[in-house]
Amino acid sequence: MLKCVLVIASLIITSSFAQHNLPPKEQWLTLRGEEPLVIARGGLSGVFPESSPFANQMALVSGLHNTVLYCNLQLTKDAVGICLTDLRLQNSTNIEDVFPGEHKSYNVNGKIIKGWFSVDYMSRTLFNKLLMIQSVLSRPSLYDGTLPIAAVEDVMGIKPTQFWLNAEHEAFYAEHNLSVSLYLQKALRMMRINFVSSSEIGILKGISGSVNKARTKLVFRFLEATEIEPTTKKTYGVLAQELPMIKTFASGILVRKEYIWPIGQDKYVQPATTLVMDAHKLGLEVYASGFANDAIVGYNYSYDPIREYLQYFDNGHFAVDGVLTDFSPAASQAVACYSSFRNNGKPQPGLEQALVISSNGASGDFPGSTDLAYQRAIDDGADVIDCSVQLSKDGVPFCMDMADLLTGTTVVTSFSARTTTIPEVQSEAGIFSFDLTWAEILTLKPQITNPFMASSGLARNPAFKNKGKFMTLPEFLEFAKAKAVSGIMINIQNAAYLASKKGLDMVGTVSTALINSTFDKQSTQQVFIRSDDTSVLSFFKAKFPNFIRVLTVDTKIGDAPKDALEEIKRYAEVVAIPRGSIIEITNYFTTGLTKVVAEIKASNLSVFVYVMRNEYVSLAFDYYSEASMEISTFVDYFHVDGIITEFPNTAKRYMTCPCRPTQLNPNGAPYIIVPPEIGLLMKMVAPEAKPPTDPPLPPLDADDVIDPPLPAVVETSATNPSGVADGPAAATPSAAVSNVANLFPSLLSVVVLNFFISHFCIVIINTH
Ligand SMILES: *[C@@H]1O[C@H](CO)[C@@H](O)[C@H](O)[C@H]1NC(C)=O
Ligand SMILES: *[C@@H]1O[C@H](CO)[C@@H](O)[C@H](O)[C@H]1NC(C)=O
Ligand SMILES: *[C@@H]1O[C@H](CO)[C@@H](O)[C@H](O)[C@H]1NC(C)=O
Ligand SMILES: *[C@@H]1O[C@H](CO)[C@@H](O)[C@H](O)[C@H]1NC(C)=O
Ligand SMILES: *[C@@H]1O[C@H](CO)[C@@H](O)[C@H](O)[C@H]1NC(C)=O
Repeated sequence: MLKCVLVIASLIITSSFAQHNLPPKEQWLTLRGEEPLVIARGGLSGVFPESSPFANQMALVSGLHNTVLYCNLQLTKDAVGICLTDLRLQNSTNIEDVFPGEHKSYNVNGKIIKGWFSVDYMSRTLFNKLLMIQSVLSRPSLYDGTLPIAAVEDVMGIKPTQFWLNAEHEAFYAEHNLSVSLYLQKALRMMRINFVSSSEIGILKGISGSVNKARTKLVFRFLEATEIEPTTKKTYGVLAQELPMIKTFASGILVRKEYIWPIGQDKYVQPATTLVMDAHKLGLEVYASGFANDAIVGYNYSYDPIREYLQYFDNGHFAVDGVLTDFSPAASQAVACYSSFRNNGKPQPGLEQALVISSNGASGDFPGSTDLAYQRAIDDGADVIDCSVQLSKDGVPFCMDMADLLTGTTVVTSFSARTTTIPEVQSEAGIFSFDLTWAEILTLKPQITNPFMASSGLARNPAFKNKGKFMTLPEFLEFAKAKAVSGIMINIQNAAYLASKKGLDMVGTVSTALINSTFDKQSTQQVFIRSDDTSVLSFFKAKFPNFIRVLTVDTKIGDAPKDALEEIKRYAEVVAIPRGSIIEITNYFTTGLTKVVAEIKASNLSVFVYVMRNEYVSLAFDYYSEASMEISTFVDYFHVDGIITEFPNTAKRYMTCPCRPTQLNPNGAPYIIVPPEIGLLMKMVAPEAKPPTDPPLPPLDADDVIDPPLPAVVETSATNPSGVADGPAAATPSAAVSNVANLFPSLLSVVVLNFFISHFCIVIINTH
């Protein structure tokens, strides 16, 4: 039969890394006190087609050394076992194109289902004619049509430390003269299978006589509570109450994660059931399934897969014995690096620390720039909390992401008549803080930002959508002083426009507040002044020499020439740049990197990068849909000095974890998180399928960055209540206000890139 041998080993070597045995003494609340197992469903199926060689090999090189490879067994007409989740082949292969019109309808456990079934094809046909496709839309489709279906033997050939075979549908296969039990009995004799699971009691009982219990564990898999188990005709919900009976033939159970931490109608996580503790009392292991970084339901997890895993095995009350996941690297990291007893939240001595700087507080969790967002940022360990200062029409300074109140407040409900377009501030129309009095602003409610709602439907913490209080700048300063943050960052926007057109003195107001709250005198909390306007930075340099000035360069640059940087050094000590100036991304794949960070640092300037988010749609596939991998890349590969993030928890947790690749004694680490090799996943795409790369980014140009001096503040008076002054035209800000909300195209544009490529792999003849 034709089989593919893939030439990925050499590619993978560069990203593989040493895995070490975990330290022996741990307080895991699993049945046996061992660390939870990471079970990779079809390998790294979150990136590559399920059970393909890419998927399986990547799961092994990028996860814990004892990662279990999980294969969902299906049988072909000639009783060959293949690894696919669905009985039907159309979701995961190109069979619709290869055998058009050959779909059938069958009765499977009382339900009529339609499609192309493995039982209708000889294995030779399937292996020779079909190629796999990614069945989940949020995952890369660029590998579609390049990889063959995997036989059970192919997965075993990769030599996983542990192997898990799941099998179902005994009755359906029997109608096609096939037997799952017979297949399993034969397989158990011929290969080392560590786990066999099934949702059918008949299958498990049928093979239990031929299982060496010391070698192979039998696991009963629960389907949805309302579905009926074929052997007993009871629902799985009822069987969940009959664990002692299950213990008679199984050593463990595999349940959807919602059996343990249910999700309510409101999509918040409800209190845990007693299932894990009940099962453990009986000596039954519990494995939880359904984990995927790109499908995190439960707002409590803030789209952070690590938080979700920790809820299952580091909650202080119980721990599941393993997690079945499409993204085994994240699960591996959660086990090895992030449990409370391995990561105490303290920096490790001798390790380079990048500052964790909030972006409008923890604005991923709560409405930005509110007391709730700032308190959360501090609780999450942010080193620096930030306030972007805006002014009301009557000159009250307060914290808010942008002068335009449309995204951060409910302003549209009451003041839509004040909508204006002010090209000096932003290109889109808005309702601006400087057109509303402070009393008017206080009638508004804060509003959480949802940057990925329109493109991907991902909402943030809706129960707190309009919660929290706005903070004036003096309130923010008093708050910061009272808390143990090591610094504050004050971001100043539109100062020239406000002075010349609105008669509002932004720099004067901010300085007065800083002096009044004695930030100019203290040395315990560092003040950072951030602006995209060099004249604002000059003002603060003259007045407060101890403050650190941060210049925002918000246009994406591909290079930072020395002379431009020398010019910038006259104004700033730090340059804040967007992620896209460091790593180039095409269709969610990293495709290249710039030298910008190294160049800036070589000029003795520091680099902050913005803005980090948890949601998988903000991440390149190379990070396996997990934000800490991106942070790892910026901190330990590029060595940036600060991370500006809407989710300080994710960044701080990485900074204090024992798995950083830069640590002094990597051999003593339980696991090493290695930043992805930039461009590796794209290298694995067949040449014909590669999308065109974007044109190179322009270099940093000092002329674009340096601004004219701040204009004088024009007089406005009560006779001019509209606040519109006839002052000199404000200088156009050097860097256009960019909407950093979404550096990525909508997900759909990626999904439509559906390439069908053949013969990417080296095909060899294998007499099977
Ligand atoms: C397969 O595709 C059908 C629709 O074509 C869908 O209803 C089903 O959920 C898919 N199954 C899987 C396992 O993705
Ligand atoms: C199963 O085997 C029986 C007897 O050998 C045969 O009559 C029947 O047609 C077969 N069914 C299928 C679906 O192959
Ligand atoms: C999840 O968040 C909701 C809303 O904040 C809260 O009521 C609930 O207790 C949280 N669930 C868990 C398990 O902490
Ligand atoms: C100055 O600070 C004090 C508290 O230290 C506060 O009560 C007062 O309102 C502040 N004044 C100004 C102008 O910010
Ligand atoms: C950077 O600073 C170091 C030490 O302060 C100095 O030796 C070096 O010349 C500086 N480099 C540049 C490019 O200014």
